[in-house]
Parts: sequence; structure tokens; C-alpha cells
Amino acid sequence: EDEAGQAYFDKIIAEDSRIEPADWMPAGYRKTLTRQISQHAHSEIIGMQPEANFITRAPSLKRKAILMAKVQDEAGHGLYLYSAAETLGTPREELFDQLLSGKAKYSSIFNYPALTWADMGAIGWLVDGAAIVNQVPLCRASYGPYGRAMVRVCKEESFHQRQGFEILLELSNGTPAQKQMAQDAVNRFYAPALMMFGPNDDESPNSQQSMRWNIKRFSNDELRQRFVGMIQEQVKVLGLTLPDDEIRFNEETGKWEYGELDWNEFYEVLKGRGPCNAQRMERRREAHENGAWVREAAAAYAAKKAQKAQV
Ligand code: ACO
Repeated sequence: EDEAGQAYFDKIIAEDSRIEPADWMPAGYRKTLTRQISQHAHSEIIGMQPEANFITRAPSLKRKAILMAKVQDEAGHGLYLYSAAETLGTPREELFDQLLSGKAKYSSIFNYPALTWADMGAIGWLVDGAAIVNQVPLCRASYGPYGRAMVRVCKEESFHQRQGFEILLELSNGTPAQKQMAQDAVNRFYAPALMMFGPNDDESPNSQQSMRWNIKRFSNDELRQRFVGMIQEQVKVLGLTLPDDEIRFNEETGKWEYGELDWNEFYEVLKGRGPCNAQRMERRREAHENGAWVREAAAAYAAKKAQKAQV
């Protein structure tokens, strides 16, 4: 049966078509997708924190409403992605446990602090901008539920990126102090945003297999250099600069080049030793415990409804 399953799977991948939850799939494919999708879900949920911290400090009612909507979108993305991950067989509670016990990874970027209102702009422009560059190709991921979830997620991320850009644009055209605040936020978020794409290609153990399986369509470095090219144009419109004087377009390779990133810092953050790892995890555990009554009430309601449907 596995032989027939494998043949069917290989054919689907070769045709660049889609694998669905009930289809046979190699154990490694299931495992790497569960890993990537759940890490992605955890990132969306942990990623609510830096911005949620600023909802009470947004400078106007309009900004507050926009920021609240954005943070809610991130929660929605997390729930979408947990649902997609569950179709691969691991229950949501188990995925939560992996996050809360510190076993599961989530994106390095969310372990950096948001210090000023301008950081809301830099997060929207750079962090959500990097997310879009990484996730648009994932709309074509070979696993159906993941690819379909990405379509909606990317549409919402585009709105998030524009709102971040607009925050920075307004600050940049404001007082000198406001412009300086915007520049400072861009300076702090630039390198961490580039690290979101993952380690360099020769240090990325999962990339090659994921590309053969049509999960990833481009390598980490390919997407990173594409992102650099994009933001180095946009930063001009902002009237700001990027904190890297080695950015240049290489005519020969047709690729953007940039200064080497501090990979030591990246691996420190992954090991839990970034500036905010402990705080982010503590807040998540607290929120999970505080939400226990909601989960219990929802389960009790579902059980009651199921019982009623039987009589
Ligand atoms: N932060 C934390 N961990 C990372 C990061 C990062 N920025 N980049 C790579 N890693 C981890 C990988 O998850 C992998 O860990 P594991 O093997 O222990 O599970 C390890 O470092 C080695 O990296 P790769 O072999 O390159 O891993 P992979 O092929 O999965 O590529 C990538 C990493 C690009 C992040 C991929 O998983 C991906 O595209 N994920 C979906 C997008 C996503 O998760 N975005 C979250 C942030 S965006 C947002 O939420 C707004």
C-alpha cells in the first residue's frame, strides 16, 4: 500500500499539484509540515505581544482601532494555522504544550522589544513586509490546507505592511524628534527582520528537502536578498536610511548584496536567550491559564449540543 501511496505522492509532487489531508504522504513530509506550520502558528500568537503592548499607548483613537484590528488579525492567522497543522494528525493541545514547555520554536523576531510608537511602524513595514516576501510563495505550497490558509494571511499582511509604512511616513514628515524616532526604529528592526528568513542556505538543514517537496519555493537567502532590494527602494520614499552601507545590486548575479548579519545573535535568540524570550513565554503561559475557563465552557457547550442532537 505504501508503494502505491508513494507513487501517487511522487506523481502529485511532479505535477506540482496538491496533497490533501486524507492522501498518503511520507512520514518525513508530515513531520516537516507539522513542524513548519506549528512554528508559524506559534509565531503569529507570540507575535501579538509586542504590538498588543502598545494598544493603550496608540496616539489617537483611529490608530488604536487600526492596531487592535491588526493584533486580532494575527490571532486569526494563528488559529487558521493551528487548524491546518491539526489536519496532519497532531492535536492542538499537543502543539500548545510544545510551545508552553519551550520545546517548540517560534520566529526569532518576536523576542525583540518594542520601545516606541515608531516601532509599530517598523514592525508593520519590516516585519510584516518580510513575512509577505516569505509567505507569498507559500500560497503555492504543495500541502493544500497550508497553501490555502496562506492566501488569506497574505492579503491581511499586505494591509499590515501598508499601515506600518504609513506610520513611519507620517513620523518621518513630522518634527525632527519624530523623524529621529522613526529612523531609530528602522535601525533596530532592520537586522532582526532579515534574520526572519532563517539561516544562510549552507546552514539551513531543512531547505533542500522542503524545496524538493514543493513546500518551500525559494531558499532563505533568495528571499532575503529579494526583501533587501524591495525595502532599499521603499526607504527612499520614507526619507529614511537602512543601517547597512554595504547594500548594493550585483549586476553580474542580478542579486542584492548586504552586510553580513550577526548569526551568533540569531542562535542566541533561538536558544531562548534573546532580549524578550522569557517575558514572551511568561505572558503566553499566563494568557493560556487565564483562558482555561473559555476552553472548558466551549467544550461543555459542544458536549451539550452533541447530546441534544442525539435525542
Ligand atoms: N526564527 C526562529 N527559528 C528559525 C528562524 C527564525 N527566524 N529561521 C529558521 N529557524 C529554525 C527553523 O525552524 C529550523 O528549526 P528546526 O529544524 O529545529 O525546526 C532551523 O532554524 C533551521 O532552519 P531551516 O532549515 O532554514 O528551516 P526551514 O526550512 O523551516 O526554514 C523558515 C525556516 C523560512 C522560517 C520556514 O520555516 C518558513 O518559511 N516558515 C513559515 C513562515 C513563518 O513561520 N513565519 C513566522 C514569522 S512571520 C509572522 O508570523 C508575522
